[in-house]
Amino acid sequence: MKITFFSAKPYDKQFFDQYNDAYGFDMEYLETHLGPHIVNAVEDTKAVCVFVNDKVNEEVIAVLAAKGVKIIALRCAGFNNVDLEAARRYGLRVCRVPEYSPQAVAEHAVAMLLTLNRKTHKAYNRVREQNFSLNGLLGFNLYGRTVGVIGAGKIGAAFCKIMLGFGCKVVAYDIAANEELQSSGVTYAALDEVLRISDILSLHCPLNEKTHYLINQATIGLMKKGVTLINTSRGGLINTTDVIHALKQKQIAYLGIDVYEQEEKLFFKDLSGSIIEDDTIQRLMSFPNVLVTAHQAFFTEDALSEIAQVTLHSVDSLGKGEAPENAAVMLI
Ligand code: NAI
Repeated sequence: MKITFFSAKPYDKQFFDQYNDAYGFDMEYLETHLGPHIVNAVEDTKAVCVFVNDKVNEEVIAVLAAKGVKIIALRCAGFNNVDLEAARRYGLRVCRVPEYSPQAVAEHAVAMLLTLNRKTHKAYNRVREQNFSLNGLLGFNLYGRTVGVIGAGKIGAAFCKIMLGFGCKVVAYDIAANEELQSSGVTYAALDEVLRISDILSLHCPLNEKTHYLINQATIGLMKKGVTLINTSRGGLINTTDVIHALKQKQIAYLGIDVYEQEEKLFFKDLSGSIIEDDTIQRLMSFPNVLVTAHQAFFTEDALSEIAQVTLHSVDSLGKGEAPENAAVMLI
């Protein structure tokens, strides 16, 4: 059975080939992302394997179905880029990797926070230039600060536990409370309250109609002046124009983003020799108090191993007409 990978990178090939020994699938790795521009080129394949910025809308799904594709395997947790309703109508099965390493993403969110609050990115460059001055590197303690977590699911919960370990007060907003987290010391509050009392905010909810532009001019207005905002979830949670305005006003003192609304044109590519046409990301990167990473929060050996194993196992089960044991991998 053939699996066609889109947005494939050398590291995808490395990990998927390693675990394919047990299955013997015919693997086709395409660098291009999946979208209307390329879907007609799909041939003789039963499964497509896609990532966060592949566009799997109704138009794409209709062509995939007509070409005999039966399975859409997301090698990620989030699925906002797939039209599930269309997949259902066209009879395609859609699976994902619901939990490959919440710790990988949570730890990256903490890494971004620690970089911003202690300015280690600046210290690293400075010391290499033999500049041992501390001017401009003044940070702040995390201990005792209030950390607001929006979306305390698997990643949010892992993040909460790390922050509790730092001696922070952790307050979460979620549509469903997690009792285990409450017994570890996390308190829950309404969104407005979390925004109002937090020194640091970290976003870990999915992107959907309700959370789109959750961070906007009005919600930023509720935040403490000088707040630190971290987003490792999805770019569309933030209205970037409003955040840039808040950075200029110093309402937001530090911003760490691993995701960006227009990231599909930029992230996962080496554009070091190109002219970037996106003025918004250029503006963001011009701030000394903004840290941008290119959707790397998931990117650990542990997570890539898990992603490859779970994806291949799901495709194998579905190919045999069986349901994967872990029901959470199935979206349709
Ligand atoms: P999860 O499903 O375990 O947790 C999501 C939580 O958000 C749940 O507790 C849910 O109740 C809550 N939630 C849903 N709607 C909400 C709303 N309107 N307001 C507040 N909370 C809401 O998902 P998980 O694994 O923790 O992942 C969270 C997100 O992280 C994913 O949706 C994905 O977008 C992002 N992600 C980013 C990665 C990266 O590399 N940067 C890698 C993996 C995931």
